[in-house]
Amino acid sequence: RLPHATAWVSCGDVETVVEAIRSLRVRGAPAIGIAGAYGLAVAAGEAVRGGLAADAARAHVLARAEELATARPTAVNLRWAVERCGDGVDRVPTGTSARDLSAAIHAEALAIHEEDRKLCEAIGRHGAAVVPEGDVLTHCNTGALATGGEGTAIAVIVELWRRGRRFKVFADETRPLFQGSRLTAWELVQRGIPVTLLCASAAAHLLATGRVAACVVGADRIAANGDTANKIGTYGLAILAEAHGVPFFVAAPSSTFDLALDTGGDIPIEERSAAEVLRPAGVPVAPEGARAFNPAFDVTPARLIRGIVTEHGVIAPVTREEIRRVIAPRS
Ligand code: MRU
Repeated sequence: RLPHATAWVSCGDVETVVEAIRSLRVRGAPAIGIAGAYGLAVAAGEAVRGGLAADAARAHVLARAEELATARPTAVNLRWAVERCGDGVDRVPTGTSARDLSAAIHAEALAIHEEDRKLCEAIGRHGAAVVPEGDVLTHCNTGALATGGEGTAIAVIVELWRRGRRFKVFADETRPLFQGSRLTAWELVQRGIPVTLLCASAAAHLLATGRVAACVVGADRIAANGDTANKIGTYGLAILAEAHGVPFFVAAPSSTFDLALDTGGDIPIEERSAAEVLRPAGVPVAPEGARAFNPAFDVTPARLIRGIVTEHGVIAPVTREEIRRVIAPRS
């Protein structure tokens, strides 16, 4: 409902969690990972309420895990978090009661949430060391509404502001779902950081006129070679940044890397309903009979990315070797 109203959705069963993820009531790669982890705890709660015996409770939770992990296909954080909680289930001794299983999964979900909060701070610190002075352009929403903490790209912006640097943030409105205008602008206004919205089609002119010192965006999945899937429009923005000599940074936690994928060509891209384009917020903007192409993400090739800011430091240059050096030892 943002930016006009805030509504809290309480999810008491797995269907409601899956629907909340699919309909973007909760969205942003790290946040859907956290929601997926809590979703598995909700599945364990279903087993407790249903009075399931130990083995049946375990089977119920593991069956629900796949539904949660596949609620959206592109952000790998979702599968990562659900599988991490699922591995926790495997470690619990057989015969553990549904109630104890539920407590173990809940503890793992809380740990994932708390780790994400902390790593957002680390991303903010590492990013603040590399982003040059001047105004910043961002895309989609990568802040507190997308993570367990202050965000990824937004955490960098918040950290720079906290350190006393003064600048303005240009935010792409991010059609068709307007995460930039509804969410990023809302978060920045709350924090008192100046934000100027633009249609993505205005970005070329903005960059050509030298008004942006750096672009900083988030990510939904990063392949082993550094190719990065993020909100649709990110790839175009990276090409524009390259054409105008503006450094383009990605900020993402290690849980967003999928080192099993060789290149970005292997990343599944979610296609969403035509209605999101044809009737934004329920308002028709096209004639009956028109169709729509609505991929939710695109892939930016590694060569267009100046650096990837992670909780472990900045990967630059963005090469397989650097990614392995920074990410692989800890994953
Ligand atoms: O479709 P969304 O709103 O879930 O897409 C979100 C993005 O593309 C974000 O940029 C990405 O998840 C990074 S969030 C820290």
